[in-house]
Amino acid sequence: MASETSNAANTGAPSSPLQDRVAIVTGASRGIGRAIALHLASFGAKLVVNYTSNSTQADLVASEINSASVSPNNPLAITVRADVSDPTQVKSLFDKAQEVFNSPVHILVNNAGVANPKNSTLANTSVEDFDHIFSVNARGTFLCAREAANRLKRGGGGRIILLSSSLVRSLKPCTSAYAASKAAVDTMTKILAKELKGTGITVNCVAPGPIATDLFLVGRTEEQMKSVIEDCPFGRLGETKDVAPLVGFLATDASEWVNGQVIRVNGGYV
Ligand SMILES: NC(=O)c1ccc[n+]([C@@H]2O[C@H](COP(=O)([O-])OP(=O)(O)OC[C@H]3O[C@@H](n4cnc5c(N)ncnc54)[C@H](OP(=O)(O)O)[C@@H]3O)[C@@H](O)[C@H]2O)c1
Repeated sequence: MASETSNAANTGAPSSPLQDRVAIVTGASRGIGRAIALHLASFGAKLVVNYTSNSTQADLVASEINSASVSPNNPLAITVRADVSDPTQVKSLFDKAQEVFNSPVHILVNNAGVANPKNSTLANTSVEDFDHIFSVNARGTFLCAREAANRLKRGGGGRIILLSSSLVRSLKPCTSAYAASKAAVDTMTKILAKELKGTGITVNCVAPGPIATDLFLVGRTEEQMKSVIEDCPFGRLGETKDVAPLVGFLATDASEWVNGQVIRVNGGYV
């Protein structure tokens, strides 16, 4: 406690800037979403850890957050299984958050996403792969952002943060379905920010470059990895810890004047 107080005194910032706010992070069982959930919890937020199939991993994230809880009857984090591409499940996700924490939701981080596991050219991409990528990345973002737009707390502190990709700008070969699905996310961000005028809710998009998670690493050859690392001014892959602090800032009151933006976080990789 003493060190928290002195931290706040040194920086002028509150030590728990999201105290008692409720945040939903979709796709928080692993990778970037996991790091975001832990980071928001460290700011005092109560967390809904969403996942679609990996309950063991999601439980581990929630347990890590709940280890700081004083009472098991008042959890700091819960897990909720919901497929972001299904409107009924997305509605249940928000219902559960409100019910358990007895509060409106303040923050949505829509992080759940899938890549094209085959890294295929457009000519070799199957309709099934295209549809799956769009159903999670574009339709899933639409459904979660729509629910948030209708239900997030009004009057200050409402935050919608959507995950896109630097590929929308860098346009690398063999990424057309994925990059196109993320271009839809960028567009929704900019329009929704204007539509939410007067609510106090901001809408922003975080667009990472290559980050060392399953999504990026699975199915990639040594040679492909080397080339990505060589293209980065920092000479390394991004890590989840490179993304979470930006999302943390966007979730706090300090970011209010940042609205309708797509912010690339990629170490200068283009
Ligand atoms: N890694 C990168 O290089 C990179 C770069 C730019 C942007 N991004 C974006 O960052 C976000 C996170 O990526 P990541 O690299 O952390 O991916 P990841 O390690 O593969 O994790 C994906 C997460 O999304 C969840 N998920 C997948 N489909 C879902 C669905 N239909 N409904 C709900 N949850 C679902 C997974 O849940 P389960 O564990 O239950 O499967 C998992 O928690 C994605 O939007 C991705 O496009 C990643």
